[in-house]
Amino acid sequence: MKARSTSDRPRPADNTTNGLYGQHILSVRQFTPEVLEYIFGVADEMRTLVERFGSADLLQGQIMANLFYEPSTRTSSSFMAAMQRLGGQVIPINSVKFSSVSKGESLADTVRTLECYADVIVLRHYEVGAAAEAARWAHKPIINAGDGVGEHPTQALLDAYTIRRELGRLDNLTVAMLGDLRFGRTVHSLTRLLLRRGITFRFVSPRLLRMPDEIRQEVTGAGDTFTEHEDVHEIIGEVDVLYVTRVQKERFTDLAEYERVKDSYIITPELLREAKEQMIVMHPLPRVGEITYEVDEDPRAAYFRQMQNGLYIRMALLAAVLGRA
Ligand code: NCD
Repeated sequence: MKARSTSDRPRPADNTTNGLYGQHILSVRQFTPEVLEYIFGVADEMRTLVERFGSADLLQGQIMANLFYEPSTRTSSSFMAAMQRLGGQVIPINSVKFSSVSKGESLADTVRTLECYADVIVLRHYEVGAAAEAARWAHKPIINAGDGVGEHPTQALLDAYTIRRELGRLDNLTVAMLGDLRFGRTVHSLTRLLLRRGITFRFVSPRLLRMPDEIRQEVTGAGDTFTEHEDVHEIIGEVDVLYVTRVQKERFTDLAEYERVKDSYIITPELLREAKEQMIVMHPLPRVGEITYEVDEDPRAAYFRQMQNGLYIRMALLAAVLGRA
């Protein structure tokens, strides 16, 4: 969906940003294979830029509002770093309790306020559909940085980019997603982004935390295959990607239920002895015990590289949405 207007600045030709200029980024459903390739290509250039020069002035004079209604370390700081490394400025509202939200201001009014001052708004919110709701009101592009248990499209972009970089391809892989598949928005977005690529999905979770019906149906509807497991040993030997997630404590209404499932899986060096030599372990982070620190030494542990990739992907996305890629 296109924001109603971006600014009075001259519009770049759409072919320079693959149609992303002025777009809201709400769901991975927006990303065609061409757009994905384009973003990955720009992200590679951003990596080179950061490694060689540290920063550039591509987004000089532009301002990003970072509006976070939920906690965040990586998403928030990588968006800020991305904007600043491209020469732009940031309005950080990382704790809405110090903004007028705590006085009862609506999302619509908060967004309409921030767009008076900023060129793009990055929004994390606890409600599914909040980014889409904000986009209804906004004239400037809204980037969904996580809407409750819904989606986390920029995380899926950096996840897919990581798989591609680490394994050389995004097609015909066996991808296991493990942990909290019910409340984990990252696995919802990543599954959708990987559809129609010949991926075999292995969903590993306690029964209580199964992948939602809606997403399982999307997988089947796309002609892809998945199987569900409670025991990680059933699949560890065959996977190219083991994508581990945290059990999302904040989404449980019954904390006793959380206590029952929170330690369902712990990835250790012993478990990884059963895995292929050529595979990667991913995690959107933060981890709270589901991968032991000893695993970090394993070259297959890709989660720190994955986190680093978030900077380049978000630089690429901001440049494209603001028409400067
Ligand atoms: C994830 C999130 O916020 O959904 N974190 C992130 O953005 N890297 C995963 C999580 O919180 O477990």
